[in-house]
Amino acid sequence: MSNGLRRKLTSYGDQGFSLFLRKAFIKAMGYSDDALDRPIVGIANTYSDFNPCHGNVPQLIEATKRGVMLTGALPMVFPTISIHESFASPTSMYLRNLMAMETEEMIRAQPMDAVVLIGGCDKTLPAQIMAAASSEIPAIFLPTGPMAVGHHKGERLGACTDCRRFWGRFRAGEIDEAEIAEVNNKLASSIGTCTVMGTASTMANLTEVMGLCLPRAGSAPAVESERVLLAEETGRVAARLAMDEAAPTVRDILTPQAIRNGLVALQAMGGSTNAVVHLAAITGRLGLRLDMAELDRLGRSIPLLVDLQPSGQHYMEQFHEAGGVPALLKAVRHEIDGSAPTVYGRTIGKIIDAVVDEPGQTIIRTVEKPLKPIGTIAVLHGNLAPRGAVIKQSAASKDLLQHIGRAVVFDSVEDMTLSIDSDDLDVHADDILVLRNAGPKGAPGMPEAGYLPIPRKLARQGVKDMVRISDARMSGTAFGTIILHIAPEAADGGPLAIVRTGDRIRLDVEGRRIDLDIDQTEFDRRMLEVVNRPSPGPSRGYAKLYQERVLQADEGADFDFLQSEELDAR
Ligand code: FES
Repeated sequence: MSNGLRRKLTSYGDQGFSLFLRKAFIKAMGYSDDALDRPIVGIANTYSDFNPCHGNVPQLIEATKRGVMLTGALPMVFPTISIHESFASPTSMYLRNLMAMETEEMIRAQPMDAVVLIGGCDKTLPAQIMAAASSEIPAIFLPTGPMAVGHHKGERLGACTDCRRFWGRFRAGEIDEAEIAEVNNKLASSIGTCTVMGTASTMANLTEVMGLCLPRAGSAPAVESERVLLAEETGRVAARLAMDEAAPTVRDILTPQAIRNGLVALQAMGGSTNAVVHLAAITGRLGLRLDMAELDRLGRSIPLLVDLQPSGQHYMEQFHEAGGVPALLKAVRHEIDGSAPTVYGRTIGKIIDAVVDEPGQTIIRTVEKPLKPIGTIAVLHGNLAPRGAVIKQSAASKDLLQHIGRAVVFDSVEDMTLSIDSDDLDVHADDILVLRNAGPKGAPGMPEAGYLPIPRKLARQGVKDMVRISDARMSGTAFGTIILHIAPEAADGGPLAIVRTGDRIRLDVEGRRIDLDIDQTEFDRRMLEVVNRPSPGPSRGYAKLYQERVLQADEGADFDFLQSEELDAR
């Protein structure tokens, strides 16, 4: 097999000439023949002025290159798309598949024997894992790491559960303009990813659980020397992968056992509901289907162990100090398949065996003394969600988990935005807020709009939580009794489309049900109307591709043509 610079020659109909030309051009950068004869490690550069979560990428790249060169290979840095949550319109999720496609094609098109993928902000690691799962060369991941915690009036502040908490207080009139501006200055106190157990932390931790990055690389803070040291070591491992023709690819690492280990950790750590969508997309790339029934079963048997916001109190730096992912895996060792392989050669079982307990830590609890007796995520079905929905029960109000209420329906994100704060809105604290046309196709891009704000007039009365249901997602940093990812979505003919304001909806989390409480004949009659309603779509570009080919939430909202052709129901 050809390697290094000889891989993936440009097609000119003369291989010798292709290599000759490639060498001639690259020598313009001052490379020697010795350097160009080495195995090549590609390093994806996701630095962007629009992405503060990736603010340390230049330093991580330098350290990674050092590790690659110390091991005798040649590092080659190449740019890819970078996506930040707050700088992507309409949503970062809309662009995740584009990033996955672009990263996959750049890995495929350029001569590299292994690749290091550096990412962190919510959609970037999922996109990169999807890309690498569809690629044929070995890959190792390097999360950028969580940001530092800020402080305000004696309280710790962390993006972005505290962003929502303080914004909620501002909406309710509890704090004024001056204080919310002060908080705004302190919420993100350093570069790095959100420091609570949001989607970025969840996906970084899952990357570690599933053996795709080095131990402790999921949680080491973005600004600490350990993060840079991990980058150098990642470079060393990548170089060894590049030199080994039998090195495992992401497909070899992401076995069904590794993915199930990920589900165990997701339930135990209070992970983001977004991880369910991303894991479904990743498994789709492997020809597998995410086992939602197993996810739910694990949610009944594995309690919440990690005391991090939004389900608990603390932040990623405390999780890291407490032992991070290896310590968490030790706490759920009875459910973990220790034989799962890793990209650095040891099994996950070996990593767990080497864990030294951190004396006195209270962040990572034991199964015997959990933070909460229930797992993080429950999977619901019912006539409103024939293909499923999820709720982060660990961050919900206990007294709302069984609830019957009157629906107050918003037809779109815009409709909700325009009317939610109106004093004329007919809404009461025990109503159920319904948002539709906010799924993968409907919005488009499945925005994190599922965390509908409490209507201002109820917020002023002190209402902190209500049952809210939608085909949207919510930020992993958010909290509340919120049912998400209803599939199929309203814009794809799902039954959320037939709910009317005034209907009654029945939520039964214990029974894993979400149902519209109307007569079956009326239900069927309304559904016929939905099926017959045509939906105009965009006429060109990525928007057209997205609208026509995006899958539903239960399939990861990936594009249908990017899933593995070998997809089966394992
Ligand atoms: Fe990037 Fe939260 S905004 S991780």
